[in-house]
Amino acid sequence: MIINIFQVESLSHLYYKIMKIISVVGARPNFMKIAPVHRAIHKYNTLHSSLFIHHLICHTGQHYDSNMSDQFFNDLELPSPDYYLGVGSGTHAVQTAKIMVEFEKVLNAENPDLVIIVGDVNSTIACSLTAVKMGIKVAHVEAGLRSFDRTMPEEINRILTDSISDFLFVTEKSGLDNLKREGVPDNKVFFVGNCMIDSLIHYLPKAETSNVINNFLLLPFDFILVTLHRPSNVDDPYRLKEILEFLCSLSNDQKVIFPVHPRTRNIMEANQLQITDPSSLILTEPLGYIEFLSLMKNASLVITDSGGIQEETTYLQIPCVTLRSSTERPVTIDVGTNYLVGEDLDQADRIVTEILSGKSRKGQIPKLWDGKAAERIVSILVEKFKKN
Ligand code: UD1
Repeated sequence: MIINIFQVESLSHLYYKIMKIISVVGARPNFMKIAPVHRAIHKYNTLHSSLFIHHLICHTGQHYDSNMSDQFFNDLELPSPDYYLGVGSGTHAVQTAKIMVEFEKVLNAENPDLVIIVGDVNSTIACSLTAVKMGIKVAHVEAGLRSFDRTMPEEINRILTDSISDFLFVTEKSGLDNLKREGVPDNKVFFVGNCMIDSLIHYLPKAETSNVINNFLLLPFDFILVTLHRPSNVDDPYRLKEILEFLCSLSNDQKVIFPVHPRTRNIMEANQLQITDPSSLILTEPLGYIEFLSLMKNASLVITDSGGIQEETTYLQIPCVTLRSSTERPVTIDVGTNYLVGEDLDQADRIVTEILSGKSRKGQIPKLWDGKAAERIVSILVEKFKKN
């Protein structure tokens, strides 16, 4: 389904130049990266009169449940998408191909100057590939991250997207090193900071007014927050069962709250994996952005396999135990609060015990994670556009 709600032509007599940008969102971790870009574009338009940036948002529909999508548009004050492609779930090939077919129609209809894609999900590679083949410039926000684990679908998406993008916006130094090693010319690469952290900084005051902790009968810094959705942890029911048993054992000491991703929920249901004491190990539906931020900020520690949460906990200086054997975000370990424990749950248990006994490292906030990444991105794009 395609809905075009705005015609740029009506503006053409008001401005000297118009730059049309389509930003793509598809899956939950994309929304908080595009929201600050949208805000920065709005700010640019309010402060400048010689160039107007016409910003359209295209939602591929990779994530479609209300609590994985709509809720984030509300929490992040994003306008309804101009285009909704409604592709839904499917195998990698089906999902990627459907997005490409539908996105090509959008590009044909709009002929934008630039497409902005973020992160590493299937929507990212599908839309960048479609745009580049149509001769449309592509900006990749969160470029250069590498886990060096090619069994992760996201790693393939990152490598491919970076190799065809025109502007690569990098969040941490490892990204600069990776892109240099891969032969990406320096003039395409910009170290701008982290848009996900822009959102966090912007919405922290709102998260502080949230009642979510009281609603779940939790006490500040007296609970563990968990998220798990990586195929390596949840697709094998035996592995998932082992992890749930580990979480149950932790919940004897501190309450554990676990908002369950649909992928994880499906596997739990299909294999009848149930929790014995739901008042100590609390399973909930996925939560909105503001509620989740509030939980993260008040947790004694977070256990996760997410990418973004490693960064958010680093910024918040909350210890994070990552159940993965690699991370594409090494700054969260080198300077942040992240502990990579691999698949070894005994090691995870030891680190959790250490953290709960007060021995965790405090960490520092990485360079340029200051809430201004999106503004830097917009100024760079404007400058480049004006030169063309
Ligand atoms: C995707 C991204 C992953 C990101 C994650 C965040 C890829 C390859 N993976 O993984 O990088 O960390 O999003 O959540 O792009 N489902 C629903 N409702 C939804 C969405 C999904 O029920 O709104 C279920 C479907 O059964 C689907 C499964 O979850 O098959 C997995 O969804 P999918 O988008 O394929 O991948 P994620 O695991 O969410």
